[in-house]
Amino acid sequence: MHAIKVDSLSKNFEKFKAVDNISFQIEEGEIFGFLGPNGAGKSTTMMILTTLLKPTSGNASVQGFDVVTQAKKVRENIGYVQQEIGVDEYLTGRENLVFQSRISQMPKDLVESRIDEVISLVELEEKQNEAAITYSGGMRKRLDIACGLIHRPKVLFLDEPTVGLDIQTRRKIWEYIRKIHKEFEMTLFVSTHYMEEADKLCDRVGIIDYGKIQVIDTPEIMKNAMGNDMISFSLIDGIAKQDELINRIKQIEFVNQVTRKQGEITIKSSQCSEVIPKIFQTTTEMGIEIDSLSLNKPTLDDVFISYTGHNLRDDTTQKLNKRKEFNLNRRRGL
Ligand SMILES: Nc1ncnc2c1ncn2[C@@H]1O[C@H](COP(=O)(O)OP(=O)(O)O)[C@@H](O)[C@H]1O
Ligand SMILES: [Mg+2]
Repeated sequence: MHAIKVDSLSKNFEKFKAVDNISFQIEEGEIFGFLGPNGAGKSTTMMILTTLLKPTSGNASVQGFDVVTQAKKVRENIGYVQQEIGVDEYLTGRENLVFQSRISQMPKDLVESRIDEVISLVELEEKQNEAAITYSGGMRKRLDIACGLIHRPKVLFLDEPTVGLDIQTRRKIWEYIRKIHKEFEMTLFVSTHYMEEADKLCDRVGIIDYGKIQVIDTPEIMKNAMGNDMISFSLIDGIAKQDELINRIKQIEFVNQVTRKQGEITIKSSQCSEVIPKIFQTTTEMGIEIDSLSLNKPTLDDVFISYTGHNLRDDTTQKLNKRKEFNLNRRRGL
């Protein structure tokens, strides 16, 4: 049985296709990353999988239960940590967890011990009796995660769990996510627009853009499929001989592409270990000296660009600003 199975799922908001005919399966125990810019359809998909939204068409099941016809069963099996912080600021951390355990109708005799367990998991022991309003962003997110874990779901959905946090706090949240995964052997469905996070944290990644899944695979396979590694170098001298050098490099076996940007020459090749010694041989023959040389493997950024035709970061900043503006206006009542 798959932990999550999605079959030709679509969600329209009037004519707008927020989720456009997506299909995928997630194995039990997997950490699956849903990677895409803001507005890609990640939260909408998650809300369907967590039974909060009904799909326009298609099917989805979680732990074998249909998200529409067996919604209650689905809810018993999942935890959902939403993108926006969900904790009640005026309750203490512990009170938030008590509240959460009531919502999930947990047996009374289990509540206290479970709360102790999740509090220690996210290391909030010292702050547990203080109001959540006094917590930092990272602490609130940890409390949120603890709330999602209290009834020990089989599948935990984390919607952009690290958005807006600084890099150190983000790393800390990853640590908790890994710990949860290891200790409870849960299936984790994590959405993110951070490349690094998808790359380092997830067993498999699905890239989603404009409501469509562009590719799903392990980060390793996706990066390798890009084929070419890149060698970049600059010269100490011999600028005058650059054209000739580039022509000679183009003749080297396994060199696929040579480009020059300002003083830097970049070579794409699938066999860099063969090519690098030949570059040195050529420059030595020509009496020119290399200043520094670096070898770069394709990153998930490259994978993203190759499948979507644009850079994730550019898009995200722009849309994030729009979202901030929208949220601000909403708070202002505009
Ligand atoms: N309730 C809604 N009504 C209309 N449009 C919506 C609604 N919810 C989401 N959208 C739109 O659907 C698209 C996908 O949104 P979302 O799933 O939140 O993306 P992501 O989580 O990847 O940032 C966005 O363009 C968003 O504006
Ligand atoms: Mg979202």
